[in-house]
Parts: sequence; structure tokens; C-alpha cells
Amino acid sequence: MFYDTESNAHGMAHDPFKAIVAPRPIGWIGSKGRDGSLNLSPYSFFNAVGDRPKMVMFSSSGRKDSLRNVEETGVFTASFVSRSLLDQMNASSAAVPYEEDEFALAGLTAAMGQLVDAPYVGQAAAALECRVTKVLTLQDMEGNATDSHVVFGQVVGIHVADAMIRDGRFDLAFADPIMRLGYMDYAGIGPVFELKRPGQRS
Ligand SMILES: Cc1cc2nc3c(=O)[nH]c(=O)nc-3n(C[C@H](O)[C@H](O)[C@H](O)COP(=O)(O)O)c2cc1C
Repeated sequence: MFYDTESNAHGMAHDPFKAIVAPRPIGWIGSKGRDGSLNLSPYSFFNAVGDRPKMVMFSSSGRKDSLRNVEETGVFTASFVSRSLLDQMNASSAAVPYEEDEFALAGLTAAMGQLVDAPYVGQAAAALECRVTKVLTLQDMEGNATDSHVVFGQVVGIHVADAMIRDGRFDLAFADPIMRLGYMDYAGIGPVFELKRPGQRS
């Protein structure tokens, strides 16, 4: 089947778009408002977009509290979501008033960044400390502003829980990430395997 996205006439119970662009990693975005309030929310429009320097992005569908905070302070963190923290991650996505601290709501420790004044999940297997480089409101193909706001951040510090380091690597299988699919679906990772590039020796 084929459908154009203007009519969006896919004929299915739900739009498959996000199930097709999947799995997506979840950035658990920690931020702090100018008033000192702490915020934690999951974003699956999240990814690494560069490594020299290290850059990540997340996209806010509408103007949400995390976006407000990063615009106010210019910093944020992105914590790693392990399966063991699934319920806490979900709890932190609740639509609560701006002042309400989702770390407390989800029973998580808000650890403060070493290089940025933003909180990250103390229980997380890993976390990135980021400085905002750009906030971009996406335009559609006619050049009209949409309500999707992409925050780009340069990663200035990285926390890795000592227990997650095996043989000199971040042991992703042990860290057990959960990823966002379409609909209300999630998945973990399957067996990790190695594939060398053409011509690559080691
Ligand atoms: C797994 C997961 C992924 C999500 N990804 C996004 C996303 O990429 N963009 C977005 O705007 N909202 C996303 N949400 C919804 C936000 O987490 C939710 O609206 C939250 O209340 C926003 O919090 P804030 O206003 O404190 O930033 C996601 C929710 C879940 C559970």
C-alpha cells in the first residue's frame, strides 16, 4: 500500500510512521529552570548527530518544559534508559505542572552535572552533560514554522557507571537499553554482534 501524508489515508487503525522509523533511543532529558526547579522527561526524537565534537539532539513536539528550561539555561543532560528504570522513565513522562520535580515523582536521585548546572539520573548506566548550541524550530516544505523544536547540544561530559564497564568497553548488553517503537511499543536489544567494514582489519 501507499499513502500520501497530506491525506494521511493509511487506512490502518494507527499511523505507522513512528513504527517505521524505529527503534529510537530514548534520551532522558534532565534540565533546570531559572527558578531552580528540576525537570526530567523522556524524548525519543533523540539521537547522536555528530562525534567531532560530540553532538546530540532532541525534538520537542510543542513548547514543553524541557524546551523552556534549556532556552533559559543553555544546558541539559541526557540519561541512558535501562530496562530496570522503565517504570521510572514512564512515570517521568507524566504531564505535571512546571514546578513539579519528575525526579522526585519517579523516585529517582537527581545528581547534578559536573560541568553543567543540570540534573541527571543518578541511577542511570550513563549520562551526557550537554551545552545547547542551537534551538531550531522546524519549517515545513512551504517554509512555514511548525511546532517541532529541535535542541542541539554539544556533549561536554560523560558519566559511565563503573559497573557498566567490561573489558574496557561500555557493556551495552549489560546496560540493557530500552528503545521506543511505534504505537505504545518498546523493545530491548537482541544479541550484540560485530561486523567489520570492507577492508577493515582490526
Ligand atoms: C518514551 C517516550 C518518548 C517520548 N518522546 C517525546 C519526544 O521525542 N518529543 C516530545 O515532545 N515528547 C515526547 N514524549 C512525551 C514527553 O515525555 C511528555 O510530553 C513530557 O510530559 C514532557 O515533559 P516536559 O514538559 O517536562 O518537557 C515521550 C514520552 C515517552 C514516554
